[in-house]
Amino acid sequence: MLANLLSLLFLNASAVFAASRHGGALKRDCEIVNATYSLNSQGFYDHIDPENFTVATVVKSPYDGPSPVELFSHPQSLPQGSWNITLTTERAIGFINKAASDGVSLLVFPEVWFPGYPFTMMSQPEYTQSYINNSLVENDSNWNALVNAIKKAGIYVAIGASERIGDKLHMSQVFWSPEGETLIHRQKLRASEFERNLWSDGTVDGFKVVATPYGRIGLLECWEHLHTQMTFPMQAQLEDIHIAMYPNIKSPYIPEDPDTISHPFSSMAVNMAGVHIYSATAKVWSVVAGMDGGIIMNPVGVIQALLPPPTNETYDGPTYLAYSINTTTFRQNRTYEINSQFGFGSVLEMLQSYPSYIPKDTGTFILKKSVFISDLLRLAKKGVKYFSGDDTAEVPL
Ligand SMILES: *[C@@H]1O[C@H](CO)[C@@H](O)[C@H](O)[C@H]1NC(C)=O
Ligand SMILES: *[C@@H]1O[C@H](CO)[C@@H](O)[C@H](O)[C@H]1NC(C)=O
Ligand SMILES: *[C@@H]1O[C@H](CO)[C@@H](O)[C@H](O)[C@H]1NC(C)=O
Ligand SMILES: *[C@@H]1O[C@H](CO)[C@@H](O)[C@H](O)[C@H]1NC(C)=O
Ligand SMILES: *[C@@H]1O[C@H](CO)[C@@H](O)[C@H](O)[C@H]1NC(C)=O
Ligand SMILES: *[C@@H]1O[C@H](CO)[C@@H](O)[C@H](O)[C@H]1NC(C)=O
Ligand SMILES: *[C@@H]1O[C@H](CO)[C@@H](O)[C@H](O)[C@H]1NC(C)=O
Ligand SMILES: *[C@@H]1O[C@H](CO)[C@@H](O)[C@H](O)[C@H]1NC(C)=O
Repeated sequence: MLANLLSLLFLNASAVFAASRHGGALKRDCEIVNATYSLNSQGFYDHIDPENFTVATVVKSPYDGPSPVELFSHPQSLPQGSWNITLTTERAIGFINKAASDGVSLLVFPEVWFPGYPFTMMSQPEYTQSYINNSLVENDSNWNALVNAIKKAGIYVAIGASERIGDKLHMSQVFWSPEGETLIHRQKLRASEFERNLWSDGTVDGFKVVATPYGRIGLLECWEHLHTQMTFPMQAQLEDIHIAMYPNIKSPYIPEDPDTISHPFSSMAVNMAGVHIYSATAKVWSVVAGMDGGIIMNPVGVIQALLPPPTNETYDGPTYLAYSINTTTFRQNRTYEINSQFGFGSVLEMLQSYPSYIPKDTGTFILKKSVFISDLLRLAKKGVKYFSGDDTAEVPL
């Protein structure tokens, strides 16, 4: 099967693509427009070749600047002083346009790239209000500008966003078709470790895989790849291409120092292991996005293309990492496989093998956790930090 796959890695080395900021385009675009593209009689988009489906991951931070990681250590060092969802959206639209004109078919953004992963807010509660204000809202002017841009560009796009839904924030993933149709819109089931102090839990109905003319596609983010109850329902649905979003990635070739990494959350080797095992056991291509680098992993779980994070803080690299796949070799819309590791038999086996001496008590951890914006603001006012150095610490509400 692999022999049939195109191995075209084309790193686009052109400089940062200037976001399209022609005359307040966002304001004019906030009314949803009609799709530009539609499927042809063969069931494909004319401009997206199933034998050359080019997947790409954005490897830039949400804001202009020399180095993605450094930018995220101080939001006050951002050119505009804090997060700005409008700026992020404009930048994303620039990347979508560039990717489409280069022939990319699917463009993936990292986890909570909209409006940025708030590492800093964990220790700077005064930025809480700004982060809430700059979380994405479904159907608002930024959302609509994004959908309109996708329709004009005519490519598949998946984003990671801090999303404000009513009085809560969620870690969301949205996957749109080239016609701007929302194919999947989900919230991370359980934000990981200290993330649970900020974002609320999602629901299990978000574990969806969607059939496209180019194969079955689904999404998970970050530590969801480490937990069986999150990976299993996805793997049971037989994806062909899996979208894996992380805030950042790490070169697999640099060993980690046990003296500086004291918790698995901080170990990128642990984070990346999840997606290796996921790809290999589900036999899927994984498109791994991080704001400082990207990985395309093949169905054997082996890295097929890699753009590691820059070691040079003034480095200005490509906009995305791309790789072309021949999708005609895929499993042709098979939606499940009874005789597999991911069959219902395995679920029963797990229940049967659960040690009998452990009480069948569902506990409180697994309950859906909600963190209300009013609580976030109240705690921020008191100067409570979301993160004090202990990755597992939960702030009492
Ligand atoms: C969008 O499509 C509908 C139905 O085809 C059509 O009636 C309408 O005029 C179109 N709107 C725009 C702005 O092109
Ligand atoms: C956010 O960015 C937009 C677009 O560039 C700009 O118009 C707006 O003034 C910025 N907002 C703040 C608070 O800086
Ligand atoms: C596949 O698509 C990419 C991106 O458009 C392009 O650079 C490459 O030349 C294409 N390969 C073939 C064999 O058409
Ligand atoms: C947040 O938004 C509210 C309402 O638009 C505004 O009054 C406030 O100044 C904003 N605060 C920050 C820190 O952006
Ligand atoms: C956004 O718009 C879509 C399409 O009109 C609708 O189905 C959805 O319920 C809207 N969502 C919100 C949160 O308003
Ligand atoms: C797979 O499903 C998609 C979406 O429903 C459809 O467009 C495509 O023709 C199907 N492919 C095959 C080989 O059945
Ligand atoms: C970092 O990269 C820039 C641009 O490629 C280069 O000019 C500079 O010399 C590099 N600095 C170091 C310390 O390698
Ligand atoms: C894609 O795969 C199909 C089925 O194996 C094969 O017939 C076709 O030649 C491949 N296309 C390319 C460009 O390699």
